[in-house]
Amino acid sequence: MPSASNERVLSGMRPTGKLHLGHYHGVLKNWVKLQHEFECFFFVADWHALTTHYESPGVIAESVWDMVVDWLAAGVNPNAAKLFLQSRVPEHAELHLLLSMMTPLGWLERVPTYKDQQDKLKDKDLATYGFLGYPLLQSADILIYRANRVPVGEDQVAHVELTREVARRFNHLYGREEGFEEKAEDAVRKMGKKAAKLFHKLRKAYTEQGDGEALAVAQSLIDDQQNISIGDKERLLGYLEGGGRIILPEPEALLTPTSKMPGLDGQKMSKSYNNTIALRDDPDEVAQRLSRMPTDPARVRRTDPGDPTRCPVWQLHEVYTDESTRAEIADGCRTAAIGCLDCKAHVIDGVRAELLPIQERAREYQNDINTVRTIIDEGCEEARDVAQETMEEVRQVMGLAYR
Ligand code: TRP
Ligand code: SF4
Repeated sequence: MPSASNERVLSGMRPTGKLHLGHYHGVLKNWVKLQHEFECFFFVADWHALTTHYESPGVIAESVWDMVVDWLAAGVNPNAAKLFLQSRVPEHAELHLLLSMMTPLGWLERVPTYKDQQDKLKDKDLATYGFLGYPLLQSADILIYRANRVPVGEDQVAHVELTREVARRFNHLYGREEGFEEKAEDAVRKMGKKAAKLFHKLRKAYTEQGDGEALAVAQSLIDDQQNISIGDKERLLGYLEGGGRIILPEPEALLTPTSKMPGLDGQKMSKSYNNTIALRDDPDEVAQRLSRMPTDPARVRRTDPGDPTRCPVWQLHEVYTDESTRAEIADGCRTAAIGCLDCKAHVIDGVRAELLPIQERAREYQNDINTVRTIIDEGCEEARDVAQETMEEVRQVMGLAYR
């Protein structure tokens, strides 16, 4: 494992088109960082893509492998993170189904993306069962790995919130086994005398005085135990808080810092604004498109002074140009000492320098697609091991172990 932390991170991306610089700055760079800090699971959310693209699933098939190649090219490391494909771990669907039995319809109808996306994607009929259930499928994705942290953008925080509610309900319904207290006390004893004494003290401080610090210390004490089963850990975690077993832990959203990456028109870079630079766009083409970008409308002639704050090119300087060069350029713009093409040349260099190594690595993986498939095969297998373990327990506590 790459990190000392035993926390687990899970995130997914929908394969619905080419990845662009917005994905790189907004998501992938963050994944590359996280993979060294946590145990990470990153997956291609192909079933999620189907909820909005069921009428034209071709784009999904086209995007899946390119997307994995782009992840690898951007520096996501298969030795540090597990990379897999959602549909190759069918346990996600089983957990989704089982969770659906106990999820009130109102919880799903109230998720903001449900109405928002229906309004936004007017050309699609999203009044479907699958689309309503999308956030619950996402909950299953998260809970099946018992992930503690879920890196998502602002728009997805409500989905993690829902996941927490679903987990709480699940634990409430199915964490109340017969003889819970005795089993929990047995588990406490298994930690050894010293740890057991500390556990009791901390539990008392939390349940009687609401000492949150004590709760956190006790949780990490439980986490650190090497010689007790997962079942016992769940009992201890639940016992600590005064409830039943915690079978599916509640995850936390790890809010991805909002990407400052502007598109070619100064709006946020996004496929729907048609203002993107794809990670694998041809460098000459990229240079041309950048040089055609609109600038401060006041700079009609080369001799007209400009104002960088009114220019979309300037936002790209904030991503690609160092501070001292930026100061010179701003000055040159305001005094008309430099022209817009000189100014854009810096940005063009910056973007091309960033894309160069990514494209080189992408080419290597593209030419060796079998390696990419093997990476995914192995990731799917590892993910499936974890998912199956969770499902065995879920079936058991739900009373389905007779099968
Ligand atoms: N819904 C996410 C998106 O649209 C993708 C996704 C699916 C996801 N399952 C997930 C993200 C689980 C985080 C965790 O971007
Ligand atoms: Fe924009 Fe640069 Fe031209 Fe100023 S010089 S208007 S910042 S492109």
